[in-house]
Amino acid sequence: MTLKTKKYAVVGHPIKHSKSPLIHKCFAGEFRIQLIYDRIDIAAGMFSKEIIRIKKQGYLGLNVTLPFKREAFNMCDKLSVKSQLTESVNTITFENEKSFGDTTDGIGLVRDLQQKKVQLSGSMILLLGAGGAANGVMFDLITQNPKTIHILNRTLEKAKLMESKWRVFAKKHKVHLEVIDLSTLDKKNYELVINATSSGLVEGTLPIPKEYFYFETIYYDMTYGFETPFMKASKEMNAKTYDGLGMLIEQAAESFYIWHQLKPSTTNILPLL
Ligand code: ATR
Repeated sequence: MTLKTKKYAVVGHPIKHSKSPLIHKCFAGEFRIQLIYDRIDIAAGMFSKEIIRIKKQGYLGLNVTLPFKREAFNMCDKLSVKSQLTESVNTITFENEKSFGDTTDGIGLVRDLQQKKVQLSGSMILLLGAGGAANGVMFDLITQNPKTIHILNRTLEKAKLMESKWRVFAKKHKVHLEVIDLSTLDKKNYELVINATSSGLVEGTLPIPKEYFYFETIYYDMTYGFETPFMKASKEMNAKTYDGLGMLIEQAAESFYIWHQLKPSTTNILPLL
């Protein structure tokens, strides 16, 4: 390691399959930046302690993945407005002993949808889920000024809580935000359905029954790395279907920008992954 080598890492649990080191090293190569980018596994309950230890080892920044985005939000000294609203941190920057938390998940999703020429402004969006992943993208979805975002979640109360949290922000951006359930779901209503549930990951199940998929709608699953039942159902309907790999790359590019103030190319990297 030379004096110029900058040290970063991704932290999470599990972490061994993370593609972030490969992505960040590719980005760094484009600008001839010398960079170390590690994967660090943190056991449950050890997050704050480990972050303090990692900081002392000279890391300049960290990406935070599941299940620690909320804990990272709780422990950072300073937070971006976006992190304050989403209560999520996926990018930590260490500066003068202080940790600054930001989140790039939402803008990563938006950038990927833009790359795929999915129109957001004025559109009807159905967001499935009301957990960390769903809340994490709300700021950026709302600021794209869709006409409506419907929230549908297995547990209705959680969807209502999410709606109340984002109500004022949505109103400010003239976005109609509403909680719906299966009884009021009109499948022909939406240009875009985003799966932000962990149903495919954890249980291998569909977040909504198959009969609610519609061929003219675009389906986006924030999961990547394997085909979820959501992606499969949408493909069987011959609907446009995307996984979250593009979002992963775009959120990494935004983190890279926070650390290096350089915008890497995100299109060349896809074949490598
Ligand atoms: P994450 O950080 O990945 O969002 P989370 O905060 O635990 O994780 O949220 C998981 C989301 O996936 C929740 O919206 C959850 O619904 P509940 O609020 O009802 O728990 C949703 N989810 C998980 N398994 C699901 C399933 N089998 N069907 C539908 N929704 C599911």
